[in-house]
Amino acid sequence: MSRRLFIAGNWKMNLDCAGAVGLAKGLVEQIGSVVEVDLAVAPPMVYAAAVGEAIKGSRSALAAQNMFYEDNGAFTGEVSGAMLKDVGCTHAILGHSERRHVIGETDEMVNRKVVKALGDGLKVILCVGELLDQREADKTADVVTTQVRVGLEGVSAGAMSDVTIAYEPVWAIGTGKTAMPEEAQEVHAMIRGLLGDMYGVEASQATVIQYGGSVKPSNAGELLGQPDIDGALVGGAALKATDFVGIVQAGIGIRK
Ligand code: PGA
Repeated sequence: MSRRLFIAGNWKMNLDCAGAVGLAKGLVEQIGSVVEVDLAVAPPMVYAAAVGEAIKGSRSALAAQNMFYEDNGAFTGEVSGAMLKDVGCTHAILGHSERRHVIGETDEMVNRKVVKALGDGLKVILCVGELLDQREADKTADVVTTQVRVGLEGVSAGAMSDVTIAYEPVWAIGTGKTAMPEEAQEVHAMIRGLLGDMYGVEASQATVIQYGGSVKPSNAGELLGQPDIDGALVGGAALKATDFVGIVQAGIGIRK
């Protein structure tokens, strides 16, 4: 089955408003009318509306880097799914490793966010991935299985068409270390098998599984060439339009 490639840029806590809008405009210009790949950018939340305006009518969707699981109320500093939609977001990245390991989100919190975001009509990119010591202790499959199972609790097979999984080994994020394509493929295949157990073969075959962790134009081709790697969640390299577009082009090249 051929799944569409989905490449998303996670800008994290970088840029100022002018820089974010400039990057968005540069992307729109360079990406043009490419139709082979689904695209999204996730700017810092305060710049989402401005970036949304800059990418209007382009091929790129607007994503949030996080979301809270309540509609409104006394949750200082948090942003709801309805608020995200209000400023033009169609996607939310949830369970990113920096939120899990720096901010302290648990699998249960991530699950509440996933269920709420889908209920609010947002598409979800659910991030999973093991720490270095977990990989070295041979715990990768256990950790990722728990993150997928708990993260998707209460999500139906039908709703899975709005879910992308991003496998991001934490030791490869922002470190310049990339998982070997075969190493990544092994985990992607494991995740797809797990989704098959949870949702059946059809849903698991249709689910897009992105890889993330130091993806750049020079390594994107071999990663995206793996049978179960259907896209990329890009951090550092998404901050330069030419690098992000280089990754998109590598993906298109490999699919031809
Ligand atoms: P990186 O980040 O590409 O800078 O490693 C990826 C991510 O955290 O999504």
